[in-house]
Amino acid sequence: MNFNITQQNLSHYLNDKQGSIIVAVTGKDEIQAQRTQSEEVDGFISQLIEQKDISPKAGSTSVIPMPTGSRLIMVGLGESPVKPSNFIKALNAAALALKTSPAKTTAFDLQSITVKGKENAWIAQQTAQAFAAAPYDIAHCKSKKEQTGPTIESLTILADNSLEKELSHGQAVANGMTLAKTLADLPPNIVTPSYLAEEALRLSKKHPAFTTTILDEDKMDELGMDSFLSVSKGSIEPGKLICMEYRGGKSDEAPHILVGKGITFDSGGISLKPGAGMDEMKYDMGGAASVLGTVQSIAELNLPINFVAVIAAAENMPAGNASKPGDIVTAMNGTTIEILNTDAEGRLVLCDALTYAINTYKPASIVDIATLTGACLMALGSVNSGLMTEDETMAADLLTASEQASDAVWRLPLQDEYQELLDSNFADIANIGGRLAGATTAACFLSRFTKGTPWAHLDVAGTAWNSGGKNKGATGRPVPLLVNYLKAKI
Ligand code: BES
Ligand code: MN
Ligand code: ZN
Repeated sequence: MNFNITQQNLSHYLNDKQGSIIVAVTGKDEIQAQRTQSEEVDGFISQLIEQKDISPKAGSTSVIPMPTGSRLIMVGLGESPVKPSNFIKALNAAALALKTSPAKTTAFDLQSITVKGKENAWIAQQTAQAFAAAPYDIAHCKSKKEQTGPTIESLTILADNSLEKELSHGQAVANGMTLAKTLADLPPNIVTPSYLAEEALRLSKKHPAFTTTILDEDKMDELGMDSFLSVSKGSIEPGKLICMEYRGGKSDEAPHILVGKGITFDSGGISLKPGAGMDEMKYDMGGAASVLGTVQSIAELNLPINFVAVIAAAENMPAGNASKPGDIVTAMNGTTIEILNTDAEGRLVLCDALTYAINTYKPASIVDIATLTGACLMALGSVNSGLMTEDETMAADLLTASEQASDAVWRLPLQDEYQELLDSNFADIANIGGRLAGATTAACFLSRFTKGTPWAHLDVAGTAWNSGGKNKGATGRPVPLLVNYLKAKI
């Protein structure tokens, strides 16, 4: 999709038979519409409002064909001052309305829009992100495509020229989200650990700043990553540790690392999950997908930073040679782990990935992103990702990035007092902490492997995926947050 920025008014875009203009309305009892500067069209819109044909409700849309051949897309922003969440709702609704319309181009005037507590930069970013993300089609595997209108080829935004870079940011984020969604939506017989490794190699060819290394099971065995291998060994699909080094910054600057949980299917292993909804455990690589999506965005934006993407990719399956409850394994850093539940596999692959990443790259900071616990999903629903860290700078950086990206996170506790829930009679540590504070005990487990390095954990079990129902599928989160987080490191 092409993005243009112009200071012309909307009336210039009224005569294009393949075109459309977006006009936002606000209010409740008294409705206000944006002006197009065409007397005729503005009069027509006033009439529509008077007749109550138009609703200002956030996210409501009407597509009205005009005698000029173009279309008027009316979209509600809710009451003034416009809330950020309502603005995003409206953007998504307008983009969706365009998907089924014959229009190939559209124009949207941002100059007269203000959003409560947000700058014009945010408005421009969110607009580009929503429109660039909208054409995503989930039907990768349907034999027949659904009939929709043509996708929008160009979006003209009426705004100050200085916002051009914000449009590029929004577009890059959307492209990263599209990759993340694609990977998580594709079935688990296609997206295997090897597939993720190939995807990483494909991405790294796009930019000279990448060096990609894939560690296979033999190499991991040599390095003593028995915790990781205790998960992958029950599957026919070999596990992979994928490392993508991106050197865009100064050569002597320590990199920032993102580590993604890449369980391409989580059956639970011998601690087998119930059958209902088990298909959705294909998105247990949602953390990894968001890391690869972020890689895509960073490369596209050509950011001058040093960063490393690490993906712990494995399949968690029951088998004759799979790990059993009671098994004790030794992690790469020497910690012995009693596996009390083979379904708590994410932390088992991540702990060795964290040790390896910290030893190899001596990072300035490390963040892991994982669909780690059902407990986080229960606590925060699908609105917030869980953030756990003992490092106040990392907490502040991630909360700021989250706020700027409108990709919500909520901090959950990680105090020493929780650590004893992981005590084991037979090994240094157990891999589960019992029924209480499940998201926190999972983070406590990981904290044992990150001592001395600024580290934060994002539990995206609730946010990387829309469960069940007609919206079932990947969300592309938390790519927006991660891109902003890394961008702030420049
Ligand atoms: N991948 C799951 C967590 C999960 C659950 C993600 C639901 C998304 C939706 C993880 O591997 C898991 O099974 N966690 C267990 C941990 C328990 C055994 C301590 C859980 O949350 O039940
Ligand atoms: Mn599991
Ligand atoms: Zn899992």
